[in-house]
Amino acid sequence: MKHEKQNRELFKTNIGMLLACVGSAMGLANIWMFPARLEEFGGISFLLPYLFFLFGFSCFGLMGEYAFGRKMRNGPVAAFESVITEKIKKPPLILKSIGWFPVAALVCILSFYAVIIGWILRYLALALMNGFQNLDSSAFFSSFAGTPANIPWNLAAIGITAIIVSFGIQKGIERFTTVMMATFYIVVTIIVIRALTLPNALEGVKVLLAPKWEAFAHIRIWVYALGMAFFTLSLGGAAMLVYGSYMPDHTDVPRAARQTAWLDFLASIMCSLFTIPAAFALGLDRTAGTALLFITVPHIVTQLPLGYFFGILFFLCALFAALTSSIVMLEVPVEAMLSKMRIGRKTAALIVAVIAACIGVPLNFDMNLFGTFTDTVAIIMFPLAAVIAAAVIFWIYGAERILKDINQSAKRKIGHWYAPYMKYTFVPVCFLVVIAGIFLGGL
Ligand code: PHE
Repeated sequence: MKHEKQNRELFKTNIGMLLACVGSAMGLANIWMFPARLEEFGGISFLLPYLFFLFGFSCFGLMGEYAFGRKMRNGPVAAFESVITEKIKKPPLILKSIGWFPVAALVCILSFYAVIIGWILRYLALALMNGFQNLDSSAFFSSFAGTPANIPWNLAAIGITAIIVSFGIQKGIERFTTVMMATFYIVVTIIVIRALTLPNALEGVKVLLAPKWEAFAHIRIWVYALGMAFFTLSLGGAAMLVYGSYMPDHTDVPRAARQTAWLDFLASIMCSLFTIPAAFALGLDRTAGTALLFITVPHIVTQLPLGYFFGILFFLCALFAALTSSIVMLEVPVEAMLSKMRIGRKTAALIVAVIAACIGVPLNFDMNLFGTFTDTVAIIMFPLAAVIAAAVIFWIYGAERILKDINQSAKRKIGHWYAPYMKYTFVPVCFLVVIAGIFLGGL
C-alpha cells in the first residue's frame, strides 16, 4: 500500500507492522541488561518501578511518537523542521535542523550495536561448529572482543542490515522482522522450558525475583528503571517515529503502543527466565552484562542435554533480537537522506553502512574505547534525543493536537488528561533522565 499524498510505502499487514515495532523495541537491553538489573536490585523491587515507568510513561511517549510520525508522514528531520518553521518564522539553522540529532544518535548506536552483533555472529558460527565443548569462554571472549579479529564479523553485521533495509519497507523490513520475531518468540519459549525444567532452576527463579525492598530507597533503581523503560522502547525521537510514519491511517495507535510494550516486556521476562535460573541451577557465575551472554551462556549450553542445539538456538535468538533493532537504526538515517536528497534507497543504505563501519571499526581495537563510546551515546546522546523529540512533539507541535492524532482510529480513546500530563510531567521527566544519567554515570 502506498500513501496517497507522498507515495510513501506503508506497512502492509497489522501483524507485520506490530512485529517490526516489537523488533525495534526488543534488543540487547532485553537480553542482558534486564536480567542483570533484576538480579542486582532484587527482582520484584526492580520490576515494580520498571513496570510503572514502562506503562505509566514510556508507553504514552510511544503513542506520541507513532502518531506524530503517522501524521507528518516523515521522519524526524523533515517533520521537526516543518513543525518548527510553522511556529517560528525564520528559525536559526541549528533549530531548523534539530531533527538530525536523534538521527545522529541512532547512527552512533548502530555503530556499536553492529560490533556486538559481530560477536553474536562469531558465537553463532562457533555454536554451529560445536565449538563450545571444552571452550574456555572467558579466554576466548577476551582474545576476540576488542581486537581486530571481530572486524569481518562487524562488517558482516552492517552488511546484512543494509541489505535488508535496501529492500524497502514491505519486502525488506516488514518481511524479515516478521520472520525473525516470530522465530524468536517460539524458540525462546522452548529454551525457557528447557531451563526451567533443570533441577534447582526454580530456586534460581526465586533468587531472581526475591525483593530487596531497601533498594527502593536508592535513587539509582528509579533512574535505571526509567532509563531502561525509555531505551527498551527505542524512545529516542527517531526509530518509533519513523515506523509510525509507515503506519496506515486506520492503525489504532494506543493499542499498537500497548502491544509493543507488552511484547517487549514479555521478551525481557523470558530472557531472564533462561540465563539466571540456568546459571543458578548449574552453579555458574551470574555476572551481569556481556559476561552473561558470552561467557556464562556457552558454559550453560555445554552442560545441557542437546546442548549443541540449544547453543545454536540461543545465539540465533540473540542475533534476531539485535538485528531487528539494527534494521530500524539503519532505516532512520536512510529515511532522512531520502527525504532530503535525490538518491535511491540502495545508495542511501550503502552510505549509512559505510558511515557505521567508519565509526564502528575503530571500536574493535580497544574495549575501553568501546565502553566510553557506548556510555556517551547511551547515557547522553540517546536521552538528549528523547528530550528534544518530546519537546518538539508535546510543546511545539502541541499535546492537544497530538492527542487528536493518537485517538484518530483508536477504539479505546485516550482521555484529555493526556495533554497536560505529557506537557508538564513527561517532558520534564525526560529532562531529568538526562541530568540523572550524567551524574550517576549510567542508565
Ligand atoms: N530498544 C533496543 C534495545 O532494547 C535499542 C534501540 C534503541 C533500538 C533505539 C532502536 C532504537 O536494545
